[in-house]
Amino acid sequence: MPVALVTGPGSGIGRATAVGLGRAGFHVIAAGRHPETIEPVIGEVASAGGSGEFLELDLASLRSVIDAARRIVGSDRPIDVLVNNAGIGVNRRGLTDDGFEVHFGINHLGHHALTRDLEPVLSAGARVVSLTSAMHQRARGIDFERLRRPTTLIGLAEYATSKLANVLFIRELARRRPALSAYAVHPGLVRTRLIPGPMRVIPGTGMLSPEQGADTVLWCALSDEVASESGQYYQERTSLLPSPSAQDDDLARELWVRSEMWSGGAEE
Ligand SMILES: NC(=O)c1ccc[n+]([C@@H]2O[C@H](COP(=O)([O-])OP(=O)(O)OC[C@H]3O[C@@H](n4cnc5c(N)ncnc54)[C@H](OP(=O)(O)O)[C@@H]3O)[C@@H](O)[C@H]2O)c1
Repeated sequence: MPVALVTGPGSGIGRATAVGLGRAGFHVIAAGRHPETIEPVIGEVASAGGSGEFLELDLASLRSVIDAARRIVGSDRPIDVLVNNAGIGVNRRGLTDDGFEVHFGINHLGHHALTRDLEPVLSAGARVVSLTSAMHQRARGIDFERLRRPTTLIGLAEYATSKLANVLFIRELARRRPALSAYAVHPGLVRTRLIPGPMRVIPGTGMLSPEQGADTVLWCALSDEVASESGQYYQERTSLLPSPSAQDDDLARELWVRSEMWSGGAEE
């Protein structure tokens, strides 16, 4: 049975992705903070034809990320698909346990560390899919000095920076790890908890369901049709050019090196 690990599977796109992987016959390692919301999703994965297990993971704590990866590496099962899905949106403020602005720390740095620490069990040809957003286009570069300061105002700029970091991470992962296939996915505007409440109920916004939002994620994770070129940015099953900052190889390299340093990896 192929194995996938999905972060943030308790709601929204992560839940639909986990169930979709179950339908494709995967064993899903469902990684998140709250077993009470994730266990029912594991039940849905099983009803869809797969199987699953809960893995405790808080991306706001590098200690938790290290422990979670260690448990999986210790069990020595190859992982075929890693979906870096979990994330926080606007109206969230503060610093992670390790002193990083929360959007950067949870949406990017925790996933950088998780992917790196899972590498020993990523199977040859494993696919890594990271959720990003078209909002990455609002971030022109990364001000590295600001990443250790708490969120300002509603966190829109910080969210955009973290989503730019997701695209750059996939680009650099593809360059450094040619044996993997890495994809950054914008799921569209999807009706989930991440969208501020009032926006979710405005009629005519054309918001997608979580299942529709998960479609390109699952396509990148599973389809033989997906372009063999790793490191690209996808929306609606189509490879698109991301913003100029997201195509900046020097920025991608700098983000990688700093993320390694900040998350306790071996500097390369
Ligand atoms: N919705 C959209 O329109 C949209 C558009 C573009 C991109 N995206 C991206 O899609 C991804 C999924 O978001 P969604 O829309 O499905 O929202 P969601 O329903 O709020 O899902 C986010 C998930 O992340 C988990 N999470 C948050 N903080 C975490 C932490 N510290 N450690 C572990 N898990 C954590 C949440 O679990 P708990 O809080 O229960 O722990 C939740 O299950 C995000 O990366 C988001 O940026 C969404």
